[in-house]
Amino acid sequence: MEGLKTKITAIANTNIALVKYWGKRDTNLILPFNSSISMTLDKLYTKTTVEFSDSYRTHEIMIDGKTIEGEEYTRTVKHLEMLKEIADYKGYAKVISENNFPKKAGIASSASGFAALTLSATKALNLNLDKKDLSILARRGSGSASRSIEGGFVEWIKGNQSDGLDSYGKSLASKDHWSDLALIVTILDPRKKKTGSRAGMKQTVDTSPLYKTWLETVDEDLLQMKKAILERNFTLLGSTAELNALKMHATMHTTSPPLMYWKPESIVLMEEVMSFREKGVECYFTIDAGPQIKILCLDKDVPTIEKRLSELTEVKSFIVCHAGDEARLSNEPLF
Ligand code: PMV
Repeated sequence: MEGLKTKITAIANTNIALVKYWGKRDTNLILPFNSSISMTLDKLYTKTTVEFSDSYRTHEIMIDGKTIEGEEYTRTVKHLEMLKEIADYKGYAKVISENNFPKKAGIASSASGFAALTLSATKALNLNLDKKDLSILARRGSGSASRSIEGGFVEWIKGNQSDGLDSYGKSLASKDHWSDLALIVTILDPRKKKTGSRAGMKQTVDTSPLYKTWLETVDEDLLQMKKAILERNFTLLGSTAELNALKMHATMHTTSPPLMYWKPESIVLMEEVMSFREKGVECYFTIDAGPQIKILCLDKDVPTIEKRLSELTEVKSFIVCHAGDEARLSNEPLF
């Protein structure tokens, strides 16, 4: 294929898992041991513009105003090369990408980042793919990106095939299905974490004696979570999400050497959530491979929780989110 020069822009929102993905059965194809369920968020997204051209001599990639290098560059180039191979194209790409939240805020940008890159780059390469195929390809960049192609509530089906063609994100319910469900992302410690999720997962699978138990109990969490979402049962959703996150962290804490993503501020926030519940304000927390706490609650309780978060010195900032849109094209390019 010669002479491609279409500039394509895509937007993908990030997602937070309510039943987590933790552990790969295939590290190359990024195939998980367990299925996971997430909510795509309305407020946090990545916008990416891609242009392939025969006149470029190398891939030029800028994220949030900076030319990326090192591991981040290698990983992004690997993704572009995979997509080029599918399209049988030999040129290079210029990629400009922007997150609408500070990358250093400690919110995972890889989910929205690889989903936006996959949609924009495949379109620019004239590959017109459906959402299932886009999700399968986004997954190759970052597992959680497979869930950011769809909006609303999404299940990443783990699949059983060794080629990974049955491992993709599938919609469970649209964003309008549950409009008063809120997820408040708190920023507690914006510093970059020491162990990324990729290395953390491997360490857990290889060394945690609790990993087997995690896998034995996750299917029940998935069943309960699907029921909670379909029936809009907040108590079931929140309690299942909170216990699932704590179980994932129990596998992390029991690796050798131990993997501890929590900071003192994380524990303060977990206690705040539990004390809210004791006072009759129903809310639950979830936490990923980093110190930030995400609070699940219903809209009616958002003002009460916001007021308390503004008083806590541990909370640097917070963003109140709801279920958001699927990945989509935009006609406002970044260059
Ligand atoms: O896909 P990754 O490498 O960003 O891993 C995501 C891991 C967790 O955020 C901890 C859980 C999840 O399902 O998103």
